[in-house]
Formats: sequence, C-alpha cells, structure tokens
Amino acid sequence: MEKTLAIIKPDCVRNGNIGKVISKIEENGLKIVAMKMVKLSQKDAEGFYYVHRGKPFFNSLVSFMTEDPVVLMVLSGDNAISKWREIMGSTNPEEAKDGSIRKSMGTNIERNCVHGSDSPESADFEIKYFFNSFEILF
Ligand code: CMP
Repeated sequence: MEKTLAIIKPDCVRNGNIGKVISKIEENGLKIVAMKMVKLSQKDAEGFYYVHRGKPFFNSLVSFMTEDPVVLMVLSGDNAISKWREIMGSTNPEEAKDGSIRKSMGTNIERNCVHGSDSPESADFEIKYFFNSFEILF
C-alpha cells in the first residue's frame, strides 16, 4: 500500500468544503490513516514548500497557507499518489478535468483547495514533516 500526504487548504476549509473533499477521498477507495486540523506558522509553510523558495509565487503561497487552518491527512491505497492527484485535478483549476476537486472547488492556481505529494520521495518527506509514526494508524 502506498501513502501520500493530502492537505485541505485554507480556501477550502473557509468555504465549508472539508466534508465534500473527504467524501471524494473515501468514494474513490482511498483510506484516511491519519488526520488533523492545524494552523500553519510562516516557518511551517516555508519549510513545507522549500522546493518553491525563490519562485515568484512563494511569498504569496506562504501567506495564503497561513491565513486560516488547514486539514492534514495521510491517505493510503494502491497507487495512492497518482490516484489522489487524479482526484484533485490539475494545479490550475481552469485546466482541471470536470469532476475533479480543483475544477469544482478551486478558485485559481494558488487557491486551489487541495495539495497532494507528487512522488514517493516527496510523500515520504511531506508525511514525516507533519506526522510522527504514532499518529499514522494503519
Ligand atoms: P500545490 O500542489 O500545493 O503545490 C505548490 C502550490 O503552489 C500549488 O499547489 C499552488 O497552490 C501554488 N502555485 C503553483 N504554481 C503557482 C503559480 N504559478 N502561481 C501561484 N501559485 C502557484
């Protein structure tokens, strides 16, 4: 079973879409094996998105990710990384497929409702960044 990190971002939390996102995850056969709601500090967000440091959108992304709470989850299942990315849709909601989370609930390329790890290496880093082994239940 593969694991991936999922984040329900501040826009999605504020818009009351936590339940819809969780339903999509479960309807598509992924299992939530860890979950918590937190408010990220600037340092938390900068460290999490360190690969984007220096990009033009970095400061705005960090500010967005710290403006309201987020829901952090570890998802488990066959091909969980690619499956969750398929369910989310493309980074830019305008380019995301019909039926995807970002198409139906995202606002723009930054405020795109959800995050998912993009490779086994980033999943490993991202899961360990937010969860210790006692918090991952299956
Ligand atoms: P995420 O999948 O969390 O990974 C990096 C995030 O940076 C991305 O979703 C968006 O929220 C944001 N992002 C990526 N590209 C851009 C961009 N061109 N302009 C603004 N924000 C971006």
